[in-house]
Amino acid sequence: MQKITLLMCLGALLSLSSAQLEPDPNAETEGAAEEETELFTTPTTKLAAATANFGYSLFREQVNRDPQASVFLSPLSVSAALTQLSLGGSAEAERKLYRVLQYHHLQDSQLHSTLKNLLASVTSPSKGFSSASRVYLERKLRLKLEYLNSVEREYGVRPKALTGSPRGDLKEVNDWVKQQTGGKVNSFLTSSLPRNMGVLPLGAAYFKGQWVTRFGQSNQMESFQVEGSAPARVPMMKEDRYPVKLGIDSDLRCKIAQVQMQGDVSMLIFLPDDVTQNMTLIEESLSAEFVQDTVSALQPVELSLALPALRFSYSADLLPLLSDMGLKEWLAKTDLVKITSQPAKVGSVRHKLGVEMTPEGGQSVARAPHPEGQALGLSFQVNRPFLFLVRDEPSGALLFIGKVLDPQKLGRI
Ligand SMILES: *[C@@H]1O[C@H](CO)[C@@H](O)[C@H](O)[C@H]1NC(C)=O
Repeated sequence: MQKITLLMCLGALLSLSSAQLEPDPNAETEGAAEEETELFTTPTTKLAAATANFGYSLFREQVNRDPQASVFLSPLSVSAALTQLSLGGSAEAERKLYRVLQYHHLQDSQLHSTLKNLLASVTSPSKGFSSASRVYLERKLRLKLEYLNSVEREYGVRPKALTGSPRGDLKEVNDWVKQQTGGKVNSFLTSSLPRNMGVLPLGAAYFKGQWVTRFGQSNQMESFQVEGSAPARVPMMKEDRYPVKLGIDSDLRCKIAQVQMQGDVSMLIFLPDDVTQNMTLIEESLSAEFVQDTVSALQPVELSLALPALRFSYSADLLPLLSDMGLKEWLAKTDLVKITSQPAKVGSVRHKLGVEMTPEGGQSVARAPHPEGQALGLSFQVNRPFLFLVRDEPSGALLFIGKVLDPQKLGRI
């Protein structure tokens, strides 16, 4: 009885009511655009917010296409590939791409170096994140050297012309991605590229974070509820008194936990109250501003945490999504005049990623008695469909977003 009361009090304490999430009424606000500049003040954080917002939109598109599947994205690698592509466009083509990439409000004359620096900082080895983006070009296009040079100058990676040999090109692309991701993203392309593919921006990413606090119990097979079918069995990482930041969002009908990882990265887990594939409420709320507000409203607690130890890969061609996001007209006439004077279509926008969640971490949980946490008896059991974000804290960059519905149906690494 007493426990329930305590939980209810805590529920009130942790609940992220929309009132709390509204901006400070004393702060000067002049419309929505102004709000954004209050939260994100430096060119880097503004750009990180833009790429995150692009990522949330892309994610929603992918989820809508395939509502019954687990979906993952690493938006930054896709943003980087499309930004490299934008260097080859006419002013109008660049404008259209920038709009989809959410760059149009940035007014950053140094956009490319801001992005290059952001990529360099989020891929520093301590964060466990790697990302590779490149533009490949069909053999028969007559390329303009200045385009190749300018992308190389801005991003340190030179767009590459394919040779037209199906096996050779497959190997070239796969070897390059593998090498750029430290051997972690393999078989980027699973079949040879068809001829006449035109321009091929691609993005790959891999993440294996290290928790700040390691999990004491690991790899016990446990049940994971799946909507509409028998529970899956997954290896579960567990710890009784794990430090997290927690919130309860009654509007979104979910609990939210932020688990700290090394290198100033964190994983934000949205766990719906019910066993459901339908996370529309959460998905529709996602924006850089919402996530920033949510994170700052979470409260530190210790709780019993269980998380599935997952290793998976995911790949998709994002071209149809981009078409639905406002690039349909542009894709029909790409105006990539700085790449070639010939008409050049975009053949696909391939994306592949890999993620590993393992129990390892820096320190074990403190064993000293901590009456509060225990008395509250809080628990966060990720044993049903959930949505997660991996965020770089200093910049706010969204490294990964994913929705896990059935862990047994994920792609193998
Ligand atoms: C998913 O949930 C939303 C919001 O609760 C609802 O409007 C929508 O109809 C649901 N979709 C499906 C396919 O059940």
